[in-house]
Amino acid sequence: MEKYAVKLAPSILAADFARLGEQVAEAEQAGADRIHVDVMDGHFVPNLSMGAPIVQSLRRVTRLPLEIHLMVNDPDFFLNEFVEAGADSILVHWEGNPNLHRTVQRIKALGKPAGVVINPATPAAVLEEILQDVEQVLIMTVNPGFGHQHFVPTTLPKIQRVRQMIKQVKLECDLEVDGGIDTKTAPLAVAAGANVLVAGTAIFGESEGVAAAMEHLRATIPQASTERYEQTKHA
Ligand code: DX5
Ligand code: ZN
Repeated sequence: MEKYAVKLAPSILAADFARLGEQVAEAEQAGADRIHVDVMDGHFVPNLSMGAPIVQSLRRVTRLPLEIHLMVNDPDFFLNEFVEAGADSILVHWEGNPNLHRTVQRIKALGKPAGVVINPATPAAVLEEILQDVEQVLIMTVNPGFGHQHFVPTTLPKIQRVRQMIKQVKLECDLEVDGGIDTKTAPLAVAAGANVLVAGTAIFGESEGVAAAMEHLRATIPQASTERYEQTKHA
């Protein structure tokens, strides 16, 4: 399966949990680049989702990297558990974490790439001093907590700003978008500079099936943007 410059990270929040292994295998066969695991504690966001046992089970059925998006009040408390369960990278929010640098260092001390996530109302500027320490930046394109929400269009200029920051500070840093990514919004996010698309409903919620849904999503990604991203990457 051909790999694309723009990566797809299916979010299992929208999967059928009774067939989770099967659905992840389908996404892997269809060329998914990584699996996005949303962890919610009912406090940081008003919803509950899944914990480390899911990661442990998935680790046995897929070779894809498992990226963990922690939407919890005390991320430090859970880092060990998720790494032991088989997490390949951990994304933590800027919001509500007065010691973000320490959290990032703890993830790295566990031998894993770290990512920082910012919510729609959080300005790009908060990333300035942490960008050099992380491998991934994730821009929330909806308010976190639920799948199947509408993309917030005001995040597009922010994606552009963060792409500029990455170009200047750390070219190899992934720029991910998460929330409301579908065949309409994916090309906009990519044109703004995103190179990893997290998508739940648009991949697991389509009646056509996971592989066809991924194909349709990919087909909307403007080739010119992909090439432009590749050029800047190798410039
Ligand atoms: C929302 C989560 C997302 C969610 C996206 O808090 O972080 O990863 O699964 O779902 P869709 O793609 O359905 O908007
Ligand atoms: Zn997420």
